[in-house]
Amino acid sequence: MADYQNIRTEIRGRVGIIRLDRPKSLNALCADLVRELGQALDAFEDDAAIGCMVLTGSERAFAAGADIKEMKDKTYQDVFLEDFITVGWEKVSRVRKPIIAAVAGFALGGGCEMAMMCDFIIAADNARFGQPEITLGTIPGAGGTQRLPRFIGKSKAMDLVLTGRMMDAAEAERCGLVSRVVPLAQLMDDAIATAEKIAGMSLPATMVAKEAVNRAFETTLDEGIRFERRTFHATFAFDDRAEGMAAFADKRKAIWKHR
Ligand code: HXC
Repeated sequence: MADYQNIRTEIRGRVGIIRLDRPKSLNALCADLVRELGQALDAFEDDAAIGCMVLTGSERAFAAGADIKEMKDKTYQDVFLEDFITVGWEKVSRVRKPIIAAVAGFALGGGCEMAMMCDFIIAADNARFGQPEITLGTIPGAGGTQRLPRFIGKSKAMDLVLTGRMMDAAEAERCGLVSRVVPLAQLMDDAIATAEKIAGMSLPATMVAKEAVNRAFETTLDEGIRFERRTFHATFAFDDRAEGMAAFADKRKAIWKHR
């Protein structure tokens, strides 16, 4: 396994786990960390034995945002020319296999945005979410102004983006940012069990299911329904679709080929 400085990776069965690991700066997302994260995502994406990923941080912080100390002296020319917060970051939203964010502690700024790039968020009861960029004289730059309203609606997104306040796990669950809240001590067990359940399905089925749900945020209802119908039809080409239905009829467990 690659020798990373800012993250750790682990494989459990068909689940690939990536842990952000820069404790001294509460997992602030510096360029090296994001580059390593991209490498780890590519490795799991390319590994046919992985069916689902979990992205997590520490008990204290998922990530406290982009690295402010690394960013503070950059000029407009710097950020434009290097396409700051694009390369690497977008990998999280582009992976085709399912990916769960398991969030404990702070998920702020780019940390909250990175969690939202995952397919869904499971939060520990100590999780705190926010887009505090306004307090730094700037705005979210990794999708916060776009993804947050899609998760939680305009009113609460404006409230968070304009005040920079943090919301706790209960509020995050109430407004639909996270799919569930679990006690901190159970976060990883719960996230890994959920990932194992997903990884225990047919891989191509989970991949097209993810693609179809994501299409809902990119198109009209009519086009989205059409995309879903055609994709549903296309699953009839999967060996696993034939196996899944045959297994049901035979009252036995399906044996997936992931084909
Ligand atoms: C660099 C950071 C950091 C960050 C924390 N640290 N967040 N370093 N970038 N985003 C460092 C602190 O400087 C400190 O280093 C150490 O981590 C511990 O943090 P403390 O502040 O001492 O901890 P605490 O008092 O518990 O406060 C925790 C906190 C606070 C509330 C999360 O650290 C905080 O407000 N951080 C910044 C949050 C933020 O504004 N995030 C948005 C970033 S902008 P030392 O060396 O002093 O021990 C952003 C832009 C997105 O994300 C654009 C696209 C990605």
